[in-house]
Amino acid sequence: MNAANPIGVFDSGVGGLSVLHEIRRSLPNENLLYVADSAHAPYGDKSRQFIEDRSIAISEFLINRQAKAIVVACNTATGAAVTALRSRFSMPIIAMEPAVKPAVANTRSGIIGVLATRRTLAGDNFVRLFARYSAEVEILGQACPGLVEQVEAGDLSGEKTRLLLEHYVLPLVEQGADTIVLGCTHYPFLAPLIQDIAGPAVAVIDSAAAVARQLYRRLEVGNLLAVKEVAGAQTEARIGTECFWTSNGLDSAQPIISQLWKRDVEVCLLPILHADEISTID
Ligand code: DGL
Repeated sequence: MNAANPIGVFDSGVGGLSVLHEIRRSLPNENLLYVADSAHAPYGDKSRQFIEDRSIAISEFLINRQAKAIVVACNTATGAAVTALRSRFSMPIIAMEPAVKPAVANTRSGIIGVLATRRTLAGDNFVRLFARYSAEVEILGQACPGLVEQVEAGDLSGEKTRLLLEHYVLPLVEQGADTIVLGCTHYPFLAPLIQDIAGPAVAVIDSAAAVARQLYRRLEVGNLLAVKEVAGAQTEARIGTECFWTSNGLDSAQPIISQLWKRDVEVCLLPILHADEISTID
């Protein structure tokens, strides 16, 4: 595997761009490939088999473009597909985990809220986290149907988004949560509004930076960093590039990806697989 190869990142849609921002911050020299499977967002509504099939097809697409590592920038796809991806592909596969551990360390009230999709809250990973930490703190899981769609539409602060968030966040605060975990990669784009609704006494945290750090470590251990650091000094300065693909119409994807990436970018149509080409049977 060549260290100069790019890193592949994917999500059910544009939410994984919140993780891509952190990867870019931690790894300024890496070339990044991003796939938004927005035609099929939210994954939370789909069968486990569908999500696994899409995750494999998208990973193969990224690997065909020489990806040296894959980041599953989607909590739902992590729960449904990470085991299959790791058994199929030999390169580092980095996946999401809701930031429950840092929330447990942060809380003073002993009550934390977790905003996530229904599928993530019911999945093995979250059930394991719940079992591990629920003796120490009270964990309030809150499913948030509709939020992924608001972010996919680029509506980060409109009336409908605010009403949905008030409905999900206020009960957590009323029950005493002082720390709210964003357990879906779409939600960090709503963090300013969530913070506004929850109030300044509540910490709002996500795991994007931790995932970027984990990716850095895995690349370092595998001798796969694009630019090696020698005694703190980089041997070669190079600014990494980004390429974006979407399975949705370009007319809608281009402005939303540019809005969330905070720069005008060119987005290409994902040339693979549409829903009717793969199994949707669980
Ligand atoms: N960004 C995805 C996640 O982190 C959205 C979930 C979905 O598409 O259902 O789970």
